[in-house]
Order: sequence, then C-alpha cells, then structure tokens
Amino acid sequence: MVVVIASDHGGVRLKRSLAATLEALGHVVNDLGADGSESVDYPDYARAVAERVVAGSADRGILVCGTGIGMSIAANKVRGVRAAVVSDTFSARMAMEHNDARVLCLGERTLGASLADECVKAWLASEFGGGRHLRRVSKISAIEDGVSS
Ligand code: RB5
Repeated sequence: MVVVIASDHGGVRLKRSLAATLEALGHVVNDLGADGSESVDYPDYARAVAERVVAGSADRGILVCGTGIGMSIAANKVRGVRAAVVSDTFSARMAMEHNDARVLCLGERTLGASLADECVKAWLASEFGGGRHLRRVSKISAIEDGVSS
C-alpha cells in the first residue's frame, strides 16, 4: 500500500518509528513531515494527509500528534475523510472494518511505539465490511453534505 504519514512536533519520534515499521513491511511511505522539534500546527499536517487520501494518491493515511486528538478533529474536516484516533488494536481493526476510516491518528504521548505498531498493523490488515456499515457510513456522508435523512 501507499501510506502517507505526518506528525506535528509532538509526534515526530513515533512517526519515524512507524515509518520504519511500514517500510519493513513493504509499504511505500510518503512522509510529509514534520521533521524536528520546532513547534508547528497540527491542522496543516492533518489537512495535507487527509487531502492526499481523498484524492487517491495514498491508500491510507497516518497522523501522529501528542494525543492523536487534534489530528483527528482536523482531518475529519476534510470532506470525505473518516479519521479515527485509537489506542488499542481492537479499535484499530474496527475503525477500518466498521467505519472505513482510511486515516488513523495516534498519540506519541499516550502510546508506546510497540503498541502503536500493533495498532497500525491491525488497521492495515483490515478491510471495510460494507453492507450495513456502508449504509451507516453513507449517513455520515449525508451529514457532511447537509442532506436530510
Ligand atoms: C502539541 O503540543 C499538542 O497540542 C498536539 O501535539 C496534539 O496533542 C493536539 O491534539
């Protein structure tokens, strides 16, 4: 898969660790930064990753900040994106199988690197279930589009 990844200054170390894991698994990693400890604004990175996933230039996107929360809030503002912040492998799997969340958000200050690796692996190994889940996800799109149900 092509995986686009980014972080703010609070997530650089975990992002680098995840990128190495992804490459070792054979994925193509597109790292959009940030690259150092200088303070940056997480919405800029969330937007860049989310827009690439929606445009189809990446199969999946991963965002890391201190908690994953700010990244998920920002990424979900991009039309068509469903981003999920997770801190356990079951939620990571469900985020894909039930919610078709193609953007995963993780917190460097809340997760160890090994657990983050496992969350990413569980999510990448999962596919959207469709069926009743598609109906529900379509209702999320309707909210986004301002279409009444
Ligand atoms: C940066 O200090 C921190 O606010 C950010 O990484 C993230 O946790 C926001 O949700």
